[in-house]
Amino acid sequence: MNPEFWQKRWQEGRIGFNQSTVNPLLTEYIDHLDLAAGNRVFVPLCGKSIDMVWLATQGYDVVGVELVETAIQEFFAEQNIEPTVYQQADNPAIRYYQGQLSGQTITLWVADIFALTFEDVGSIDAVYDKAALIALPADMRVKYSEQVRKLSSDTSKADGANNEITPQLLLTLNYDQRKKNGPPFSINNEQLEQYYSAHYQIYELASVPSSIGSAPYITVTEHVWLLSSK
Ligand SMILES: C[S@@+](CC[C@H](N)C(=O)[O-])C[C@H]1O[C@@H](n2cnc3c(N)ncnc32)[C@H](O)[C@@H]1O
Repeated sequence: MNPEFWQKRWQEGRIGFNQSTVNPLLTEYIDHLDLAAGNRVFVPLCGKSIDMVWLATQGYDVVGVELVETAIQEFFAEQNIEPTVYQQADNPAIRYYQGQLSGQTITLWVADIFALTFEDVGSIDAVYDKAALIALPADMRVKYSEQVRKLSSDTSKADGANNEITPQLLLTLNYDQRKKNGPPFSINNEQLEQYYSAHYQIYELASVPSSIGSAPYITVTEHVWLLSSK
């Protein structure tokens, strides 16, 4: 999936993935992340997800990254927030929008996630991955899972016991990929192991029947995973 694919989708308003209400799986399973007030939650490939608003209202700072600048501008406009825009010191092409919501800071990077570093993003306490891993084709997912780990976990402090690993709440879909081209892509258990098992303990928190697309709908199973240190 190249950047033009996503630019075009946002431009044409083909953003069926964007939900108008907070994802109930986030509100139900967030406690597994053991967050404390003021913690920072990283939302990779964030779009303009309303889940980020909910996270702020729960007392967490939010850091997102999104390729398409319009998505970030729409996010702040829809929340009636006037953000400040900052440029990255050594690469002015990369910038972030920052605003306050419910007393929390929301920082949204306009960037390809692969262009960011741990230093850019700053210290992270948990990752919320909704429609991010499953937005990417198979050949990008190992690189993506590695990048999210590197951005969210202080790998410089690695002691071999994975103590530095930051937990993730991850939502995936599993369905017959022959019935539909992604995104969203189907991810099976073997693939999940391949992407995360080297560094994370993988716990399945829930699996919920659901559907995607427009009529005739495709039956899917939505999975909620907790990825935590081993
Ligand atoms: C399926 S959407 C999900 C958005 C959001 N997580 C949600 O649930 O509404 C995937 C988003 O990732 C963005 N994206 C795709 N590739 C990206 C990349 N390499 N770096 C940053 N954002 C990317 C797209 O522009 C799109 O908004």
